[in-house]
Amino acid sequence: MTKILMVCLGNICRSPLAEGILKSKLPEDYFFIDSAGTANYHVGNSPDKRSVAVARKYGLDITNLRGRQFNISDFDEFDMIYVMDESNFKNVIKLARNDDDIAKVKLILNEIYNNQNYDVPDPYYGGDEGFENVYKMLDEACDIIAEKLK
Ligand code: 4NP
Repeated sequence: MTKILMVCLGNICRSPLAEGILKSKLPEDYFFIDSAGTANYHVGNSPDKRSVAVARKYGLDITNLRGRQFNISDFDEFDMIYVMDESNFKNVIKLARNDDDIAKVKLILNEIYNNQNYDVPDPYYGGDEGFENVYKMLDEACDIIAEKLK
């Protein structure tokens, strides 16, 4: 079983979308995919309704996901940890215990734009078009991740 964790700040906008999108591209018998936030603001909460809406528009149901906070034990549990932006990267790396932990953490858009270190913009304070934009970026990145892993 390959285990992949998607990480953002709140675990209600970007990373639940990334989780739902990647799950839809990989067989569940071989891949375990989860998401978490570096902050604890939304622990136990459903995804933001705008993330739920854009997922539904593209045929995915993410309503059953619930927010949780990233934990040091996630370095043991997961093979790869994809973060959405530079701030998530710093927050996760701060908790790393060794080089193996650090090596698991990658900016998800580097899958599309190698070494460019682009952020998936935080859509929380913006409008619906921000969620559409985030969906498209994550869908493209997850296509590449899934192709590499299959
Ligand atoms: P996310 O977006 O990190 O993509 O889930 C956010 C959600 C909530 C907050 C910030 C970003 N917040 O400040 O509550």
